[in-house]
Amino acid sequence: MNVQEKQAVDDVICAVAPEGLLAELTHRCPLQCPYCSNPLEMDRVNQELTTEQWIDVFKQAADMGILQIHLSGGEPTLRRDLVEIVSNASSFGLYLNLITSGVLLTREGTKALADAGLGHVQISIQDSDPGNANRIAAYKNGFEKKLQLAEWVREFDMSLTVNAPIHRQNIENVENIIDLAVKMGADRLEVAQVQYYGWAFVNRAALMPTYEQAVWAQKVAEKARERLKGIMAMDIVVPDYYAKTPKPCMGGWGRRFLNVTPSGKVLPCHAAETIKGLEFDNVKERKLLDIWMDSDAFNKFRGTDWMAEPCRSCELKEIDFGGCRCQAFAFTGDARNTDPACGKSSLHGQIVELAKSEAAEPPPPFVYRRLKGKQPASSP
Ligand code: FES
Repeated sequence: MNVQEKQAVDDVICAVAPEGLLAELTHRCPLQCPYCSNPLEMDRVNQELTTEQWIDVFKQAADMGILQIHLSGGEPTLRRDLVEIVSNASSFGLYLNLITSGVLLTREGTKALADAGLGHVQISIQDSDPGNANRIAAYKNGFEKKLQLAEWVREFDMSLTVNAPIHRQNIENVENIIDLAVKMGADRLEVAQVQYYGWAFVNRAALMPTYEQAVWAQKVAEKARERLKGIMAMDIVVPDYYAKTPKPCMGGWGRRFLNVTPSGKVLPCHAAETIKGLEFDNVKERKLLDIWMDSDAFNKFRGTDWMAEPCRSCELKEIDFGGCRCQAFAFTGDARNTDPACGKSSLHGQIVELAKSEAAEPPPPFVYRRLKGKQPASSP
């Protein structure tokens, strides 16, 4: 590439570089949360990218101007090469966030990651009640291990986010969950009403709160956010099915984020493979920048030109980008349609009624997340 060509590429990158990359290092996980966002068909260990391939992905990401890498899974600490991956990615100037269940790390392992350049850890919690938390994750003593990891994260001077998915089986404890995050020393808490993709879609009836519960929890979280200003930042994710306007999913398709699966497929969002008819490129065959700029899957719903009515003439189209493509596909069979979470969708009334009727019935048993063919682990 000559100097002019390089300058042209740099100009384009400056204009459109994604902010963050979610790296799903593995789909393996010791937990079996029934709202996991991983696909129902998960990648096996022998399909995972090698250490060298992940390091190359991160080098390409840094060259593109990406600033943040979210190391996720599955459970990323199951990768034995995690310290090596972190150390290399950090040397490229990337800010690294580890998204973890928090049940496998030792004190030495946590220190090694901090020494290698990890800047931030996000620990998921299932509930403030230990018994219920361990039941939801189908993992014995997980609750206690998460609290221990939070201490080590503070000890080794890393930032801490606590992520708390909220649903009908823990929603009554939302105040206690917020207090727990404060006790854990979190810099940030995400109180996230479950979004119904992946395993959560399968378990929707077991997870859906009533409308009244959802509104109450929202108010509790908003009050706490005011009260805790200067102590702990809070992000509140509202429940899609009871919303009036849709969320700007991923900040807009192909606009701010990309996702690399354990086997190297590059997706505009973690659930994009549920949209039938889209083909996804792989980092084993094509450069990350090329995929971001030119792949059919990324360009399909980028911007606003693809929109049909009522999105096309909506004054919010540059704000919510028509909501979520995956949810539109799941409900209508066509990802170009308006997300039914939007009050302007002709299906909006149907999803509200669906949510209310599921929440009114006793919750069915969880379908726990596990690799196809793997026998159910016994619930604690
Ligand atoms: Fe795929 Fe919303 S989860 S666009």
